[in-house]
Amino acid sequence: MKNIVLFASGSGSNVENIVHYFNNKSNVTIAAVLTNKRDAKVIDRCNKLNINCLVFNKNAFLKTDCVLKMLKALEPNLIVLAGFLWKIPIHITEHYPNKIVNIHPALLPKYGGKGMYGNHVHQAVKDNKDKETGITIHYVNENYDEGAIIHQAKTSVSSNDTVEEIAKKVHALEYEHFPKVIGQLLASSKR
Ligand code: GAR
Repeated sequence: MKNIVLFASGSGSNVENIVHYFNNKSNVTIAAVLTNKRDAKVIDRCNKLNINCLVFNKNAFLKTDCVLKMLKALEPNLIVLAGFLWKIPIHITEHYPNKIVNIHPALLPKYGGKGMYGNHVHQAVKDNKDKETGITIHYVNENYDEGAIIHQAKTSVSSNDTVEEIAKKVHALEYEHFPKVIGQLLASSKR
């Protein structure tokens, strides 16, 4: 049995999609969802999906080993950032080399780093009149959006696409690719 722990900060539509995908696979469990926002929509989704959801605050995350202790207790084979917006502190990244993956809603190295999340990314793509955008699934290290890239997928952008339309195309790519890549990483992980 392989365990996944998910981190999310907002709506959690990727969390829901990942949970549904692995519901049909008996060898993978979603051990818990961890969130930094006590009113995040992802909490409602977890309640409906019957998934454990744990909330932590910034101080506990950055200045204590409380989240690391939670993770150790959950024994994840893979930690998945699915719409999680804080940088992971080094005491956690050090403990889980190549065991934490993130999805970023752009083709890194473009549009990464602090402040580049969700619609801010899609707005930048539109402002720069890019003809394509996409998703990047990558390992997480101590720097924002800089770990080794595992998988990218692209979609076209037309000049009259709104930010919301770009977001929709990118979300569609996320729903299609992210669970499959997670499944592949779990299948090739030794523990
Ligand atoms: C997703 O598009 C994800 O790529 C992005 O947040 C969104 C969360 O959507 N992540 C980042 O921007 C990380 N820098 P969701 O809450 O509906 O899954």
